[in-house]
Amino acid sequence: MARISIKTAEEIEGMRRACKVTAQILDAMDELVRPGISTEEIDRFVHKMTISLGAKPATLNYKGYTKSVCTSINDVVCHGVPSPYVTLKEGDIINIDVTSIVDGFFGDSSRMYFVGGEQACTPDAQELVKHAYQALYVGIAQVAPGRHIGDIGAAIQEYIKGTGKNYGIVREYTGHGIGRHFHELPQVVHAARWGSGDVMKAGMTFTIEPMINIGRSETVLSKVDGWTVRTADGSLSAQWEHTVLVTETGSEVLT
Ligand code: MF3
Ligand code: CO
Ligand code: CO
Repeated sequence: MARISIKTAEEIEGMRRACKVTAQILDAMDELVRPGISTEEIDRFVHKMTISLGAKPATLNYKGYTKSVCTSINDVVCHGVPSPYVTLKEGDIINIDVTSIVDGFFGDSSRMYFVGGEQACTPDAQELVKHAYQALYVGIAQVAPGRHIGDIGAAIQEYIKGTGKNYGIVREYTGHGIGRHFHELPQVVHAARWGSGDVMKAGMTFTIEPMINIGRSETVLSKVDGWTVRTADGSLSAQWEHTVLVTETGSEVLT
């Protein structure tokens, strides 16, 4: 039976290096993201910076994906494919999702960016992005040895309910174990029951990456490129992602 891998001290150091590269690339996006840039240019930048930091982009040639980053704008939930024909415009919200491989270890993280600055985006978009960020952090707050993986989704679900916004939490895509492979066990669902799922142990590494929609939770997969995931109702979607380590006392965000 497949098991959740427990990383050794050495493996955790490897994860730290990969996750640090990913965080550095996302930091650079603060400057790069602006009205008029194409998502293809973002992809070229991420590719070059990844290589210059001695890493490899994990998404490139992953299951037929041909880019080094995912760029998901407005109603795109995740896995938006960079294109020279897609240009950022003032008031867009974009998720940039980077995964780097260093010495065989994977570091996966994504953040939201306001194109043209926060004030250029609608109040609804600003609120959605902030609640999605909080959702990630209430999930992270559940991580500790002895806790259940399902507690992450339970906390996120309670938080989102508490906003009173009727936001949808995406069910079709989840967080995941990560290490020497991009996607490992466990599956980390973002809406779950308290006490469900596997018990966390120190040395586990996994992502938490809630996707929150202003409207319904349902998504549709593009028939055109086979990758781009959109909200079924066309509403805005926001996502933040970290790679997290279970420590002896709680958790550590690696990205
Ligand atoms: N980084 C994404 C995740 O959080 C996976 C992207 S796979 C791709 O799991 F092929 F779409 F790039
Ligand atoms: Co991920
Ligand atoms: Co990711």
